[in-house]
Amino acid sequence: MARITAGVGCSHVPAIGVAMDTGITEQPYWKPVFEGFEKSREWMAKQKPDVVFLVYNDHCTAFSAEMIPTFALGCAAEFKPADEGWGPRPVPVVKGHQKLASHIAQSVILDEFDLTIMNAMEVDHGLTVPLSLMFGQVDEWPCLVIPLCVNVVQYPPPTGNRCFNLGKAIRRAIDSYDEDLNVVIFGTGGMSHQLQYKRAGLINAEWDQRFLDMLTEDPVAASKIPHVEYLREAGSEGVEMVMWHVMRGALDDDVTEVHRHYHVPASNTAVGHIILENKTN
Ligand code: DHB
Ligand code: FE
Repeated sequence: MARITAGVGCSHVPAIGVAMDTGITEQPYWKPVFEGFEKSREWMAKQKPDVVFLVYNDHCTAFSAEMIPTFALGCAAEFKPADEGWGPRPVPVVKGHQKLASHIAQSVILDEFDLTIMNAMEVDHGLTVPLSLMFGQVDEWPCLVIPLCVNVVQYPPPTGNRCFNLGKAIRRAIDSYDEDLNVVIFGTGGMSHQLQYKRAGLINAEWDQRFLDMLTEDPVAASKIPHVEYLREAGSEGVEMVMWHVMRGALDDDVTEVHRHYHVPASNTAVGHIILENKTN
């Protein structure tokens, strides 16, 4: 059977992608950001997932303001890196797992979570930057990827609780797929950041670290954090963190935290990263 063995939480700051694509990761500003992912790449190389289920948000790239699905599941055979204004990132095309994605769509929708099914979709930095951080610069991504796109751009995004329960439904779907697959689930976005108006540049390291503690130790309490607390404590774009609860909901209640990295600054945001393993692998 397919099984979810581990979860990865990871920021998606677009400037991280630019730093990798332009070969400046050794510069003093960037070096400490990337050092925290060295252990993660070693872990990934050992973990060898067959599939990454990647929860991320689109930034008005695949979806314009005309149409904003709350949850959109990537069921296509491949997902091209999108042109976000400076040409597409020079990273490989993302290959999907169509049979597993269709199975998840069926299982999760019949489990009463209404997903939008995406049979064609381009993917932006929200998806490609976490892949680059975890796999480095590669000619081909070493596994298949199923994207789940969550609206955190236009109010109202889903609640943390809804995301957490969706994670549980995704777990049930993957557990019931009859092929021996190692699946790692990513929750991406965050940490604290605000890109606009008077509080632009806001960083709240203490709150971010507490969020990571709660995510590991008390995920139910973490999933109950209301939107207004993300806004107040972590800035308007800090609400991207609701996506981490999908990842956490798909794991066991009791997990092992195998790695954590937190660094300020990267562009206008704090970079947060965590790796959680199920104990029942
Ligand atoms: C920045 C951060 C984001 O999460 C994003 O989507 C765009 C820009 C930034 O810090 O510049
Ligand atoms: Fe973002």
